[in-house]
Amino acid sequence: MSEYGMTHWPDADEIQARLDRLVQQPMRPIRADRMREYHAWFNKNCAKSKTLNEEACKLIPGGVQHNLAFNHPFPLAINRADGAYLWDVDGNRYIDFLQAGGPTVLGSNYGPVREKVLELLNSCGPCTGLFHEYELKLAQEINRHMPSIEMFRMLGSGTEAVLAAIRAARTFTDKVKIIKVGGAYHGWSDQVVFALHIPGTGALEAVGIPRGCNKDTLEFFPNDLEALASLLDKNEDKGGTACVIVEPFGPESGTRPNRWDFNQKVRELCDAHGTLMIFDEVVTGFRVGLGGAQGYFGIKPDLTTFGKCIAGGYPAAGGLGGRRDVMSVLAAGVEAGKARAYVGGTLSANPLSCVAGYWSLVETERTQACQKAGRAGDLLAAGIQDMFDRKGLPFVAWNHSSIVHIETAGAMLVDIMNPNAFEEAKARKVMMEHMGAAYTAEGIITIAGSRLYTSLADTDDVVDAALAGFNRVFDGIEGV
Ligand SMILES: Cc1ncc(COP(=O)(O)O)c(C=O)c1O
Repeated sequence: MSEYGMTHWPDADEIQARLDRLVQQPMRPIRADRMREYHAWFNKNCAKSKTLNEEACKLIPGGVQHNLAFNHPFPLAINRADGAYLWDVDGNRYIDFLQAGGPTVLGSNYGPVREKVLELLNSCGPCTGLFHEYELKLAQEINRHMPSIEMFRMLGSGTEAVLAAIRAARTFTDKVKIIKVGGAYHGWSDQVVFALHIPGTGALEAVGIPRGCNKDTLEFFPNDLEALASLLDKNEDKGGTACVIVEPFGPESGTRPNRWDFNQKVRELCDAHGTLMIFDEVVTGFRVGLGGAQGYFGIKPDLTTFGKCIAGGYPAAGGLGGRRDVMSVLAAGVEAGKARAYVGGTLSANPLSCVAGYWSLVETERTQACQKAGRAGDLLAAGIQDMFDRKGLPFVAWNHSSIVHIETAGAMLVDIMNPNAFEEAKARKVMMEHMGAAYTAEGIITIAGSRLYTSLADTDDVVDAALAGFNRVFDGIEGV
């Protein structure tokens, strides 16, 4: 367990009870006068970003191409990244707790990996379409850290990895149904844009997706193993369940944390039903420890999806690995007569992604990045929760290693059974966006105002500076 940054697994029921209390009471947003000051700060200090965004909106739908970049009051244009910091085009410096959305546990633009990438670019360029030795080196490295990955395929993104995993599971088991946890995110492919963000919402967000695409996708509520058992039983009469896919820390990277024994119980239920268990380690893989969540829990999934850290912050970041017999259905030249699941991608497994992935894993091990980032996560979560307690705020902060959650608005935590659930979720989302803007104006970039990813670069000085910035924001909350 020493390679992990986690000293203990937080009590999921205790966190959930505090989150329930948070969303049962009125919101505690930032005071209007303080919010006006923050808006004024953006207009004064981020003028170039604002102009660029206005121009971008004319040609790019919404002005940005990734949800994470869509920040209130307008997206910032970033032109420099180094370690724990980002700089925008107006020259403002921010502490970077976005870390590209998770991939850079070594810190942004990490020099030793960049050197190896430049070496490769100078010799063969980013892509030839043919095999490169770094593909093998990366697969060997992953197999060394995660023995369940007996075979590995590199893909273009986490979304592609999940697509491939489901296809492989269906091919191997000859079953059709798939089961996910409500609220979990597994990318944006047709079959898994289902029960997104809020458990129980089913096809609500499946806009532009014909019902036929997700009619075999089923959801169960977080930690509700009885519901999972019942779905698996019911599916037995309908041709069976090909796979259960889980985010091992809980939906949305642990926003609703899993109980410690959840994954083990899912494993047992899958085994009892001849169903494959897929661990979606797109976030946890090589961020919480080189053995991933599976090493931490001591679970052997049948298939594991990767993204983000698999290419160390370089494009294209996706991969699928697992049992040799299951992965073999993805082989390009399997024996005649055997079922083959079609998986492709012109730029999949390009040398650029593989060299970056390989050296990132080597450097992550050498520098003990997961442990150090995890320690920074511990300090941040404890420091922020302490502020909430001292200021009498109902907000909740906790972390799983370098994944830190700060729930102030609880936008994704509203109960779908509440008759005003959608209005409530919308209002809470606005508060979350305001919180994100306030953190930014205080020099801290977060993920959508509710999550932080820490990195090797987060020294105690960085953590202290961040805590001072958070403190200024929380002093501006109504009633403090
Ligand atoms: C758990 C999980 N799975 C899959 C994905 C999709 O990965 P990508 O954005 O690379 O398509 C994400 C992205 O955030 C994720 O968090």
